[in-house]
Amino acid sequence: MTVATEQDLASIDISDHDLWRDDPPYEIFAKLREERPVHWSPLSQFPHEKGFWSIVRHADLKAISMDFETYSSERGGVVLVDDIGVPLDMIRMQPIAQDPPRHDRMKALFQQAFTPRRIAAHTEIIRAITNHAIDGIAQQGECDLVTDIGKHVTARVIGSLLGTPPEDDDQLVEWSNMIVGFEDEDYRPEFDAMMGELANAFEYVMPMVEERRKNPSDDLVSALAHAEVDGEKLTDEEMVMTFGLLMAAGNDSTRAVYGSSMLALIKNPEQRQLLIDEPDRIEDAVEECVRCFPAFSYMRRTATRDVELHGQTIKEGDKLALWYVSSNRDATVFEDPERFDVSRPRVQHQAFGAGGRHFCLGAALARLELKIMLEQTLKRLPDMELAGTPVRATSLFLNQHKSIPVKFTPESA
Ligand code: HEM
Repeated sequence: MTVATEQDLASIDISDHDLWRDDPPYEIFAKLREERPVHWSPLSQFPHEKGFWSIVRHADLKAISMDFETYSSERGGVVLVDDIGVPLDMIRMQPIAQDPPRHDRMKALFQQAFTPRRIAAHTEIIRAITNHAIDGIAQQGECDLVTDIGKHVTARVIGSLLGTPPEDDDQLVEWSNMIVGFEDEDYRPEFDAMMGELANAFEYVMPMVEERRKNPSDDLVSALAHAEVDGEKLTDEEMVMTFGLLMAAGNDSTRAVYGSSMLALIKNPEQRQLLIDEPDRIEDAVEECVRCFPAFSYMRRTATRDVELHGQTIKEGDKLALWYVSSNRDATVFEDPERFDVSRPRVQHQAFGAGGRHFCLGAALARLELKIMLEQTLKRLPDMELAGTPVRATSLFLNQHKSIPVKFTPESA
């Protein structure tokens, strides 16, 4: 799509899925950052829904993320579509969709469970899980990076942290896709079936919670069930919804970044070679991967009062999309921002949140997982090439491929 005039820019519908078919619409975001940093768009895929403001500059994302009094996560949740088939009251049981004071309590409870020690202690388990997934395809000479490696590793890692058995991974991935990938027909059940699936998820989680309340073990569900702030623990419904958040965040996010990063490395063989020759660089390269390919294209906020921003009047109740896929390519912050450069010095990207209290609780886990997944894939399957056309999920929210077919020299038995 060519955007020649100011009028073209003003009338663009950012939510048009055609613009997102191959990649996020980076050129349009670059123009918006220069010329129209607060931009109104309809939400055309969901015509009964109100439109939204796009926020595209790095500095604006930061300021808005810090100001929860004006820009609420709780009022409308974090996706642009108000009605995804799960009642808002349920969604608001998750810290990501809460403002203070509710959020303070929930975050404190989470932090008791999600400790850096627990994550670090998982390092060798993550390596073993990754190698197990690669073992499954290494002698075949071809695989799908998303469904054969990304999906299995991320599902098992979050499953082993939460304390669910491996045979349940597929079901949990399906529930997670259903919620986070609600815009994609392959992921989303019929609207009516959604509530039924949610009830099934409840029935799955609650006995596990009850069991861990009686007999705590070393997993995250036990830690969450027993965490306490001011004498209060998580309620049953909060337990189920936070389990859902961790499952969805743990599955869809890291899988998305892994797929996009491997694809970029395949397309940039000199950068891939650098990481193969000097694997110590992979930890920093992960930051560039997350900058270029944030798992979530945006998070939503909802205005709690009328406010002026760059000459536009945002009304109370209006939706705002904080576009990480744009802010992470802001030329006022990043040199040559469209270039994928694994040698880029450590960067202040916003992929895990642009500041303030909602900063991603799983960032340390995601970084560790991505480092190990890239390390092992590059080490064992160094000459991977594309074997077909990658397919992106149909989604404004999820910046993810559903399929990346690849081929490589098979490992000998
Ligand atoms: C590369 C992977 C990941 C990315 C890019 C990512 C990104 C984000 C973003 C953008 C936010 C919201 C920030 C905001 O609203 O201001 C967030 C919040 C959150 N993330 Fe992640 N995430 C990733 C992986 C994970 C993992 C693996 C987990 C846990 C298993 C996780 C758990 C959470 C939680 C619990 C929150 C809510 C925090 C709060 O509201 O206080 N994330 N993440």
